[in-house]
Amino acid sequence: MAKNSASFTCQNCGAVYNRWQGKCESCGEWNSIAEEGAVATGPGRAGRKGRVFALEPLTGETHDSPRLASGVPELDRVTGGGFVRGSVLLMAGDPGIGKSTLLIQAAAALARAGHRCLYISGEEAVAQVRLRADRLGLTDAAVELASETSVEDIIATASQGKTPRLIIIDSIQTMWTDAVESAPGTVTQVRGAAQALIRFAKRSGAAVILVGHVTKDGQIAGPRVVEHMVDAVLSFEGEGSHQFRILRAVKNRFGPTDEIGVFEMTGSGLREVPNPSELFLSERDLGSPGTVVFAGIEGTRPLLVEIQALVAPTSLGTPRRSVVGWDSSRLSMVLAVLEAHCGVKLGGHDVYLNVAGGLRIQEPAADLAAAAALVSSLAGASLPAEAVYFGEVSLSGAIRPVAQTPARLKEAAKLGFTRAFAPEGRGEAAGDSGLTLSAIGNLTDLVADIAASGRRAKGPRIARQDG
Ligand code: TYD
Ligand code: MG
Repeated sequence: MAKNSASFTCQNCGAVYNRWQGKCESCGEWNSIAEEGAVATGPGRAGRKGRVFALEPLTGETHDSPRLASGVPELDRVTGGGFVRGSVLLMAGDPGIGKSTLLIQAAAALARAGHRCLYISGEEAVAQVRLRADRLGLTDAAVELASETSVEDIIATASQGKTPRLIIIDSIQTMWTDAVESAPGTVTQVRGAAQALIRFAKRSGAAVILVGHVTKDGQIAGPRVVEHMVDAVLSFEGEGSHQFRILRAVKNRFGPTDEIGVFEMTGSGLREVPNPSELFLSERDLGSPGTVVFAGIEGTRPLLVEIQALVAPTSLGTPRRSVVGWDSSRLSMVLAVLEAHCGVKLGGHDVYLNVAGGLRIQEPAADLAAAAALVSSLAGASLPAEAVYFGEVSLSGAIRPVAQTPARLKEAAKLGFTRAFAPEGRGEAAGDSGLTLSAIGNLTDLVADIAASGRRAKGPRIARQDG
């Protein structure tokens, strides 16, 4: 029986079908299935007997200094202390977010430290990469450039001479390998090219960074298909309208996954932001109703960020709930607790919640701050400008203690805040941070407090002294 060598692969998720269809059943994407040739097995492979290899114990020699600090501290923070030898890292992000900029900066810093770095661009000509380097003031660094797309050629070149410490492949979607017959950019090609590069990294000890564009339509195979093959996946995020860029580890075999690196896109490249709290608070709308400062933790680093809420009467049958930078199901939960336990009726109001600066908050500790912002907006009462808020709201309305209270308080004190509304700690005192801690046991207390100050403010309006 003749074996059918062609298969149909979804370019979005990589699911394989044996006939074409309009919609991928696995990811639900339309028009994403394309015909692809099977992976070549290579001549003489069939029927080969397995080779016996040596098994090793857990104890044994490891490489000395397996990590290579990049010279960009915010990047090292996210990778967990630098690039690991022989590891492969995927840098994923929207087109135009600044992946190439960040990586040429890292490559230049490493080259200046005397390491051999290769920057292979499959998207831009060498002149274009040079132009960017010139703009960033990096032309003196000895980064070795090339504009190439053949994985075999790249590996042959990299194998010559001293083994490079870092190889940047920009981007994996433009690479192709002879071992696979389908067109460049297809799932099979991206997978085949990534596999070849990963094998090379393991064999040579060079650290390899693959750039991957995140695409919404199924035209180019997304970086998803290589996520499981690489050692670490870093996601470079940012709101188009903001200058801030956040680097986050999505997967990391050699380090933490909760650290973030904060950068600012400037006219001369990406600038590191070592103290992000100052940045996320710099545009603070002091003393207007609906704004609150949340004392959060990202990884090991405390981060103060402003949360804004707008609660306005709705003109629609179903009121809108819109949230940017936070989890919408957490917002629904906080709204439900406010309605059920605190008598705050929001059924006739649209609710908008926004985290300033384009940051995405993931911890539940933001519940209390979000609730304070919502009630403050509804009551038209501004919250004390010198206070920070944090705490997790439980379904009963009780405020639960959260981790790392002292670090949050210390950061708040450092930035000039004098009060904190927080749950009663688990024996962790406010310590020597110098902040007045207003312990909140239940969401009802907070709502009553804000409502009372709202009524006072609605009397003769007194000009507030902020700052
Ligand atoms: P780039 O690194 O090319 O993005 P990616 O590789 O992720 O597609 O960066 C593209 C954007 O960054 C581009 O819109 C211009 C902007 N940019 C600056 O604002 N300043 C700079 O110094 C550089 C090099 C780029
Ligand atoms: Mg690029």
